[in-house]
Amino acid sequence: MARYLHGHAPSVLASHTVRTAENSCGHLLPHLREGMRVLDVGCGPATITLDLAELVGPSGQVTGLELLEETLELGRAEAARRGDERTRFEAGDVMALPYADGSFDVVHAHQVLQHLTDPVAALREMWRVLAPGGVLAVRDADYAEMSWHPQPRELDRWRELYLAIARANEATPDAARHLRAWARAAGLENIELGASTWAYADEETCSWWGNLWQKRALTSRFTEEVLERELASQQELEEISSAWQAWGSDADAMFIMTHGELLAFRPTV
Ligand SMILES: C[S@@+](CC[C@H](N)C(=O)[O-])C[C@H]1O[C@@H](n2cnc3c(N)ncnc32)[C@H](O)[C@@H]1O
Repeated sequence: MARYLHGHAPSVLASHTVRTAENSCGHLLPHLREGMRVLDVGCGPATITLDLAELVGPSGQVTGLELLEETLELGRAEAARRGDERTRFEAGDVMALPYADGSFDVVHAHQVLQHLTDPVAALREMWRVLAPGGVLAVRDADYAEMSWHPQPRELDRWRELYLAIARANEATPDAARHLRAWARAAGLENIELGASTWAYADEETCSWWGNLWQKRALTSRFTEEVLERELASQQELEEISSAWQAWGSDADAMFIMTHGELLAFRPTV
């Protein structure tokens, strides 16, 4: 299993906790019905998970799954904040899900496959726990395709370092473009693919994204991996951090993040 590159430092969570079902799994929403049993694999801080719980209503049942018990505390805290006492948070590995075949009507994963060494086996496992008539939904990013302006050399270097670490961990940072191949290799059926973006293109979101990476460059698992692998010096990380800050306060700044989207519908018989 690949080492989860981002980690759960506050600077990382700042980017994950703004996620909603609407901005992160719009492709799944038309297929949700009240009463569905939903599994959200790699749920992280669970803002998407808990939105899904609202959408399937009180007759539905949502489970957020995370690798480590300590990460589940993030989801439990967000559930308590929202007054959601129904959603379950359980520890487990997507490579060996602790559920019987056909246990869920929806199996969802947002930005998880890009971190795994064997995403095809993960999809097979997600498909196994999907009930006949159910839908599997995945959305994953493509770091190599992210684009931004202005484009100082320090931010190109940031991407170069990110890609190098992810690949050294045998993960796939350009996961989006692989979704069709992975789905076919995993034997999924009734596949639909698409793409969508997040765009940061106003003062508020650019400043938020720039400040966040200003911190993440110096205080997250990314920082540790760069230094441990001696890919760059502390000095270079500080230059990258400052470049992010400057980018975020540039009135012309814009950042576009491409995602691939996969739906697969399990036949009813
Ligand atoms: C980029 S975060 C996405 C979190 C959440 N889905 C979201 O979009 O807000 C990826 C998550 O996958 C989890 N993860 C990584 N490998 C996993 C595995 N083998 N099984 C379960 N979860 C895993 C990480 O702990 C992390 O919380």
